[in-house]
Amino acid sequence: MTDFPVDMTVQPQVTAFFDEATNTISYVVKDPQSSSCAIIDSVMDIDYFAGRITYDHADRMIAHVRDNGLTLEWLIETHVHADHLSAAPYIQSQLGGKIGIGDQIRVVQETFGKIFNEGTAFQRDGSQFDALFADGDTYMIGGMQAFAFATPGHTPACMVHVVGDAAFVGDTLFMPDGGSARADFPGGDAGTLYDSIQRVLTLPDAMRLFMCHDYGPGGRDIRWETTVAEQKVHNIHVGHGATKEAFVKFRTERDATLAVPKLIIPSLQVNMRAGEVPRDDDGHMMLKVPVNGL
Ligand SMILES: [Fe+2]
Repeated sequence: MTDFPVDMTVQPQVTAFFDEATNTISYVVKDPQSSSCAIIDSVMDIDYFAGRITYDHADRMIAHVRDNGLTLEWLIETHVHADHLSAAPYIQSQLGGKIGIGDQIRVVQETFGKIFNEGTAFQRDGSQFDALFADGDTYMIGGMQAFAFATPGHTPACMVHVVGDAAFVGDTLFMPDGGSARADFPGGDAGTLYDSIQRVLTLPDAMRLFMCHDYGPGGRDIRWETTVAEQKVHNIHVGHGATKEAFVKFRTERDATLAVPKLIIPSLQVNMRAGEVPRDDDGHMMLKVPVNGL
């Protein structure tokens, strides 16, 4: 990890936006030296049973960017989420910025392109996104250098994004008392997730870690920020030097008991298109349900 350009002296301002419906935390990451910012893992609201999409959560983020006179440079997706829909195209239409994700999105598109029987019109080359990050790629948010590194396991295209002393871990890790995310989606792998988490834990101990989800285990208040040092000691799945064998056994047994995420069907179709809702031949927004396909 020391080959990565970590600079703990850069301390971005991080504003969190919690989505109660999906327990997702979206972030605005601002360069303290300029008006530049990035948005990480935005959320589009859906009432799936009514087939209705709205933008209350995204509008709150847009208002924050506008009210503070910020310039949005990036809309980052840490991975193709299976539990909420991205609002990246909606926010981009109002504020600009480039939509970026890991270059292994192609693997995810191949897998779910088949499951949703998308046909040849659906490109599986990541071209729906403005930028595809390879492991270790750097990019700028104003004067801050950010970098992304590959953390597959939960999904093949997962990446952690690091900006100064702040790392956005996606679903690689949960808060210490939440442990880790499931690794049983198509393309997921518990052993690979363990290796990715070890990579995250080689970041400096004082690195701020920002979660994509929190479910308030045990009824505690929702939290989303911790540190590498806290995870190393207290994480219930990988802390205390838990072995790979023990993690894989636990994770595999646990995943077999978990229900499918409520929004997996709409989430995958939208998020593998960089947040665009698919359209039928007449241009109407339309979602599919593959029966016994997942
Ligand atoms: Fe996820």
